[in-house]
Amino acid sequence: MTTRAVCAALDATDSLAPLREEFNLNEGEIYLDGNSLGPVSHSAVSRVNDVMNRQWAKDLVRGWNDDSWMALPTQLGDRIAPLIGAMPGEVVVADTLTILLAKLIGGALELRPDRRVVLTDVANFHSDLYIVDAVASRATRPLTVRAIDRGALAEELSDDVALVMLTQVDYRTGEMLDLSGITTLVHDAGALMLWDFAHSTGAVPLDVEGANVDFAAGCGYKYLNGGPGAPAFAYVRRTWQGVLKNPLPGWLGHARPFDFELTYDPAAGVQAFVTSSPSIIALESLSGALDVFERTSMKELRAKSLALTDLFIDLVESRVPGVFDVVTPREHERRGSQVALRHVEAYGVVQAMIERGVVGDFRAPDICRFGFTPLYLRYVDVFDAVEILAQVMNSEAFLDERFTTRKPVT
Ligand SMILES: Cc1ncc(COP(=O)(O)O)c(C=O)c1O
Repeated sequence: MTTRAVCAALDATDSLAPLREEFNLNEGEIYLDGNSLGPVSHSAVSRVNDVMNRQWAKDLVRGWNDDSWMALPTQLGDRIAPLIGAMPGEVVVADTLTILLAKLIGGALELRPDRRVVLTDVANFHSDLYIVDAVASRATRPLTVRAIDRGALAEELSDDVALVMLTQVDYRTGEMLDLSGITTLVHDAGALMLWDFAHSTGAVPLDVEGANVDFAAGCGYKYLNGGPGAPAFAYVRRTWQGVLKNPLPGWLGHARPFDFELTYDPAAGVQAFVTSSPSIIALESLSGALDVFERTSMKELRAKSLALTDLFIDLVESRVPGVFDVVTPREHERRGSQVALRHVEAYGVVQAMIERGVVGDFRAPDICRFGFTPLYLRYVDVFDAVEILAQVMNSEAFLDERFTTRKPVT
């Protein structure tokens, strides 16, 4: 079993270790929930302070011109692009993930007018399932949404499938799907591919260009650390720009918003996917968060992420053998940046750990979920977290009756 001294030695030679200083972390706490809400960075704070105290306070409405507020959705998109393997001009930051999925689904369905089926994953995030059903039911032709077992995708594909929408890293199990293989399979059936990158962006290297992805969207508040409710981003492959229509057009996606024309004429490029006024404070927070990513690469982050999750799985299996079902795949090519442990008392386990300073989360019905973010986590944090997990399990602290009632957010 790996000792704490070995972990400390790994930290001492870790080239990413200095990045931990960029974050405002609670002293003595081990934060394994950056896959739900990333922590605040000093850079995010300083950019938001600048908006509040200078840009907004002093520049007032002039900020739209003088501080280039209008350009932020595409400027930030260009900074997210390298994280997903996209080109400049293919990513825009706006809205929230569910809303961007609605826009992309609605637009995509019109590109395959002769096809009547949409495929998604029955294990997909519930919001994705709600929105795909809602958008499909309002399409200009009758459509059927099939939420399938994703393992059966090849058999379910046919020449009637217009669109396939999948989440690339499963929010519960942490399983990572084959971006390129699945996109090719879908294209071979003549359908379009839309990926949800909520648990992928900033967590695993992505190559939308190489995989020939049509459309994708992801969160700003998880691994990107943009802040609670941070705006999301959409990727529209450049070959679809000008072809894919935004079904929720608004003035700021117009080619000439300040001509106040009565007819909608979409702006060129991904700007057409902006509907409304950008939320400048939120965008500046995300902008600060992205500064940290510009000091490293997804290759470096991935190597450390795999080392951290490998270490966590090995330690769990040696410190509390046979107690949990490790549902996250062992194969690196099938693993995101989180580890999910199944246990019948999962909620109590997570709450007892939070009380002891290790923050993870619970996903119904029985998953303890731990996210590993190489930007600020140390190998010793992984070691200490498993020691606390062992204490919780050996003492049965998770059975405390305080944990029988679930809080609204789990
Ligand atoms: C996989 C997945 N898709 C979609 C969403 C919804 O994101 P939003 O609240 O930005 O709409 C989440 C949120 O956690 C998610 O995990």
